[in-house]
Amino acid sequence: MHNVRKVVDDLYWVGANDHNTHLFENIHPIPTGVSYNSYLLLDEKTVLFDTVDWSCCHQFLDNVAYVLNGRDLDYLVINHWEPDHAASMGEILLRYPNATVISTEKGFFFMTQFGFHAEKKITVGNGDTFSSGKHNFAFVQIPMVHWPEPMVTLDLTNGVLFSADAFGSFNALDGKLFADEVNYDRDWIDEARRYLTNIVGKYGPFVQAVLKQAAELPIKILCPLHGLIWREDLGYIIDKYDKWSSYTPEETGLIICYASMYGNTAAAAQLLASEVVKRGQTNVRVYDVSHTHVSYLISEAFRVSHIALVSCTYNLGIYPRMKDFIADMQALNLQNRTFALMENGTWAPSANDKMRAMIDEMREMYYVDSDATIVSSVNDTTRKDVEAVAEAIVESMKKRQ
Ligand code: FEO
Repeated sequence: MHNVRKVVDDLYWVGANDHNTHLFENIHPIPTGVSYNSYLLLDEKTVLFDTVDWSCCHQFLDNVAYVLNGRDLDYLVINHWEPDHAASMGEILLRYPNATVISTEKGFFFMTQFGFHAEKKITVGNGDTFSSGKHNFAFVQIPMVHWPEPMVTLDLTNGVLFSADAFGSFNALDGKLFADEVNYDRDWIDEARRYLTNIVGKYGPFVQAVLKQAAELPIKILCPLHGLIWREDLGYIIDKYDKWSSYTPEETGLIICYASMYGNTAAAAQLLASEVVKRGQTNVRVYDVSHTHVSYLISEAFRVSHIALVSCTYNLGIYPRMKDFIADMQALNLQNRTFALMENGTWAPSANDKMRAMIDEMREMYYVDSDATIVSSVNDTTRKDVEAVAEAIVESMKKRQ
């Protein structure tokens, strides 16, 4: 049964939505699903842009056959060879053996590594062009967004950019197709940020390079491989990408992330939140690192300017879930944030020094002027230390505003 939507004249979305996969890349929860976008152009020649994850192949094949309506497929452009977009290529070539595959040299190399084969192929690189009749295309390579081999394809005739992973998002489309059909700030921005920061966060400078190239191109519509199509207000999402990829906080705000075994460290984190809000800074959210998946914590760390880490001591070091979070921030190259540290321990509190040592390995990280050590639970003395940390956070946030 087909389920397709028209994008613009001659171009159709023939992708699929996935609410079955629980973990994207088998690591990131996707409770609201994800889409795998594929686009089919009907011109003098027919051109399919990317395929879909194998799990959605059946729906995808129905969609392609419906839009082709008896025509053969002439070209398959593989902009990105990651299997969530390319794994259905073999099935497409079985049904449409006359199709010529267009990809980068590295794209074909990866294709072979994954055990696929294209009988008819055209290798393209930066600036190469191609015509399907009325539509003329240019290819631009975008290494490390987010694998080494991808390219984007610009339709020079109508300004459609097939942007591969760039400008993608978690969330299944569920009938919607365009960003102007949803309340993006309410329903999509958090999942777009979580997608970009966790999947491509490490490669910020490469995304910056893509944004610079894109600024020179006559782009009117962004067609990513996941999530919504942008045909209005492109500046909104480009600005978000600019901030995320340059490690610039979106907001002056604070997240307090705590690791607590018996609730005493959690209580200290909540006390810190109250003391910060009482002092007038209300953009504060609190997370338990044992309850909130680290992909959400990463997304929040990219959103705000200030991060308070409140950890109990475990094996004379950082609580494991907290350590994972800091290690993930390191791996994803997060920069330009201000930290506040609080530790708890019953006989040898030692998390602060170890958290500081990990943060010091990252670039452009700063600290507020005060930290705190709690011994088992907050008492009258350590309450004052927590208040001092709150004061230092608020002073630092004022400087960022
Ligand atoms: Fe959705 Fe890098 O693939």
